[in-house]
Amino acid sequence: MKISRRSFLKTAAAIGASLAWVEPARGSRVHWNERRDLYPQGVASGDPDPHSVILWTRRPFAQGTRQILTVEVAEDEAFRRVIAHAPAPVSSSADWTARVLIGGLKPARTYWYRFTDADGNGSRVGRTITAPLPTDPRTVNFAFVSCQDVNEGKLNAYRRMIYEDERAPAAHQLGFVLHLGDFIYEMVEYPDEVKTRYDRTIYEVARLPEGPKAGNFHIPLTVDGYRAIYKGYLADPDLQDARARWPFVAMWDNHEFSYQGWQSIQKAGKERPGQSIKVAANQAWWEYLPSRCKKVSGPSLETFDPPAVTNVAIEKWDENGLGDEPNNRTAINSLIGYRSYRYGKHLDLIITDQHSYRSADPFSDPSLAKLGGDEFIDMAPETLMQALDGGRAFNGGNPPAEVSFGDAHVPNPQKDKPPQTILGATQKAWFKDQLRKSTATWKIWGNSEGALDARSDPQNLPPGLTKEIWPKDTYASMSPPDYGMAYTERAEIYDLIRDAKITGFAIVSGDRHSFWAGYATSELPPGKFDPVGLSFVGASLSSPGTMEATEHNLSKTDPLRALFLADRPDGAKPDWTHNMLLKHGVRSCLEYAKSFDLERARSLSNPDLAPHLEFVDLGGHGYAKVQLSADEIRTEFVCIPRPIARSERPDGGPLRYRVLHTAALWKSGERPQLKTSVLEGDVGLAI
Ligand SMILES: [Fe+2]
Repeated sequence: MKISRRSFLKTAAAIGASLAWVEPARGSRVHWNERRDLYPQGVASGDPDPHSVILWTRRPFAQGTRQILTVEVAEDEAFRRVIAHAPAPVSSSADWTARVLIGGLKPARTYWYRFTDADGNGSRVGRTITAPLPTDPRTVNFAFVSCQDVNEGKLNAYRRMIYEDERAPAAHQLGFVLHLGDFIYEMVEYPDEVKTRYDRTIYEVARLPEGPKAGNFHIPLTVDGYRAIYKGYLADPDLQDARARWPFVAMWDNHEFSYQGWQSIQKAGKERPGQSIKVAANQAWWEYLPSRCKKVSGPSLETFDPPAVTNVAIEKWDENGLGDEPNNRTAINSLIGYRSYRYGKHLDLIITDQHSYRSADPFSDPSLAKLGGDEFIDMAPETLMQALDGGRAFNGGNPPAEVSFGDAHVPNPQKDKPPQTILGATQKAWFKDQLRKSTATWKIWGNSEGALDARSDPQNLPPGLTKEIWPKDTYASMSPPDYGMAYTERAEIYDLIRDAKITGFAIVSGDRHSFWAGYATSELPPGKFDPVGLSFVGASLSSPGTMEATEHNLSKTDPLRALFLADRPDGAKPDWTHNMLLKHGVRSCLEYAKSFDLERARSLSNPDLAPHLEFVDLGGHGYAKVQLSADEIRTEFVCIPRPIARSERPDGGPLRYRVLHTAALWKSGERPQLKTSVLEGDVGLAI
């Protein structure tokens, strides 16, 4: 596994100036005088392997178009044993960001690095850690995070993560942070235009040089717009400290490009052809998040060199729902984000892109509004959703001609369309191949989107509560349009896992702004509950979640209010029965909202509703930690209160709870079995 200097130089030759090989340790040759103000976005490192890592900073200059910094890497924090010393070019065409690949490092080692300009002005010191060798049997530790809206919140979760990691025994310290997207929110509010949203104060992030608005939100259209947002986000001190402490392995979700965008189509309310906007989003992501993602212009780490594209409407779609239009293809392939990452004996991390190749949303055809069901908040018949997802392939290629809700019928809008794909054909083939080839103990799918079904059982509501009657023969799907409703594609992947006898499969995801723990299964009752692995969703670091929105938006007199919020007679904050709805069903919620008797409420649990869920908290914020060993996976949810204001405490403020989900490695054919224990705090109705 040891790569030679020669092969490193050969593979890295095309990278240009931005690489360095280690040399014997010696004292620093650089006069370094720390000037953090000249490096306003701090430092970072990304995508470590056992022998190399990419280091990053940004040093803007008022004059010229290109300057050369020096990067130093040392075995000690004081830089007495410097083992790499190399030029690090920055240029205006990369918004003065630098990336340097350092090779020849030792596996599973901590290193320190810093940048210095020609006048001795230095960046802060960063710390990074290389990956262990694939034969290294030691325990692997990483955190997974997502959704860090600093327009509407603060990153106390990173402060907590740093505080705990500094105090953890070495064997429990994090090796890297997996960022599953919404690193930025491209929709920016200006505090002088809007002061608050839900419980949140709107904080200044950026002023966009251009762009339309969607409601209160400004939207970028150019690379300078996206760059302004990254700079605004990276001004956050807790995010800077986190990036200076750990290497990050990152994947974008939707907001790095566009809220409801897909392929190269920009969408925030209305759709617009956005080939140049997708390229701009990719360029800014590449400039601000150091990674080994492949860009179309070649391996140079100095500049992105965006391909030229024109914004034209896509009129033709191929058999997998991919827009058959050259500018679209160029834009979505301008940066390939999906990749896999071996980390010691126990981890193969397989990361996928859920937005660049996905087919059109099958659930939103305007004709479906005629079916009604509006009284049932956020609920849609699961059988209907499954038919829409399956398109022409549904029911063995015999899709229904019509879809219905009660007495209402409309023609099935997806009857002739391909089944929904989130990965797209090319990425999916790659993903399946990675799963088959994996030899690590644990195969962790870094999927930015939650993959656990969210459903409820309104068929069990007492008569008279609603005017409309919920169809007797179906559960309600309450998933966002994510992997929780990608029924066909999910089944294809889970079937492969079962058929290929793959064990140790688990999904880690984000996007839902809530904590979930459970099982990966293609079917739920009345189908066969047959888990092939585990599935986790980590809460938002800061972005507002469902419970916060519901507290503000749900009418006090809504007949179904008890399914979401239980109002205490003393006027205290309502309890979050929505969590109970997804895990136990409507009967439990109605009982709880009446008696506040948890035991009685749980005794009315519908056992067929959610055998796939062990834990769900739609009001959680924070981060998740994963520990992998030869025989066990341990996933810890660290939940903090709503991060409305920055905590000045060194630990980032109080915890709401800490909950641990463990599972022993199962053998092929066995069912994985999660054990959930609350280590501290109060999880409310999440269990
Ligand atoms: Fe998000």
